[in-house]
Amino acid sequence: MNITFCCTDMKAEPWLVGLRAALPQAKVSEWHPGAPQADHAVVWAPPQRFVDEQRGLKAMFNTGAGVDALLKLRLPPSIQIVRLDDAGMAVQMAEYVCHAVIRYFREFDVYDADVAQGQWALRKPRVRKEFPVGVMGLGVLGERVSRALRQFEFPVRGWSRSPRSLEGVACYAGPSAFRTFLSSSRVLVNLLPLTLDTSNILNHDTLSLLRPGAYVINVARGAHLVDDDLLALLDSGHLAGATLDVFRTEPLPAAHPFWAHPKITITPHTSARTLREESIAQIAGKILAFERGEPVGGLVDVARGY
Ligand code: NAP
Ligand code: GLV
Repeated sequence: MNITFCCTDMKAEPWLVGLRAALPQAKVSEWHPGAPQADHAVVWAPPQRFVDEQRGLKAMFNTGAGVDALLKLRLPPSIQIVRLDDAGMAVQMAEYVCHAVIRYFREFDVYDADVAQGQWALRKPRVRKEFPVGVMGLGVLGERVSRALRQFEFPVRGWSRSPRSLEGVACYAGPSAFRTFLSSSRVLVNLLPLTLDTSNILNHDTLSLLRPGAYVINVARGAHLVDDDLLALLDSGHLAGATLDVFRTEPLPAAHPFWAHPKITITPHTSARTLREESIAQIAGKILAFERGEPVGGLVDVARGY
């Protein structure tokens, strides 16, 4: 069995070493133009040329949860695409989102500013039930994040495409429930995949439906958010702030207004990192299951877009 590795922005060598150790029966090599045909590929945002040349692939194993970069390519209709299922990302995402929600709710940024001025000043405690958190996307990550937020006793709402049931979470599904979901949320967390249906979903109309003084956390993809609409709603005071981990262009260009905006906290696409060891173990297990003809978890529905 031949496995080719083509991951933009990742050092190949440690992955090759790990994949060879996990799959000693396979020949694992890094892809280059003109490389021999492989049976399976381990990929992250490969170029179109890779897909055009590797016509014999049975499956592509994505080294991340989101497959939007892969689905932008012209793919052969027969190919199977498999995403990472958690592999250590869900707990990281839960940490990141809880940190951002709690920082906003407990006003730790205000305390930081006071302390920097040498001020010992207590603020009135906020009432938790007045801060319902809405989680867009109740998949592998959204579900884990919702459970973590419940541990802190926040009221949690969730929105998904098909109906879901999560203990302690008020669940909404589909476009008809979207406005009700938004208008009952004071903190909005985006964990949707980027698809034709969800692109630009965080815009002036939708963000205006949030309760006044709302807070936005985007940890999914930059193209979900209309940047200028966010800035306008922050400047008008309808939104209190935002934590953004993902951007339309990454790295975020130096002149972008998000860098210096006093109500925006940014991080460099780090909320849930691909962990090499866990990911290699998961991908190797899936390749072996695939070869045995067994069901493989995390198969992407290309028509649906995730
Ligand atoms: P997932 O398991 O595929 O879950 C996606 C969720 O979104 C599902 O609940 C799905 O509904 C819902 N959904 C999809 N389209 C929808 C629509 N049109 N309307 C309403 N709900 C819709 O994905 P995941 O593993 O949780 O990951 C989510 C995204 O997080 C990834 O696609 C990626 O973009 C992003 N991500 C970011 C980072 C980072 O470091 N910033 C790391 C990992 C992932 P159903 O339940 O009905 O299918
Ligand atoms: C990271 O953004 C991922 O999709 O895994």
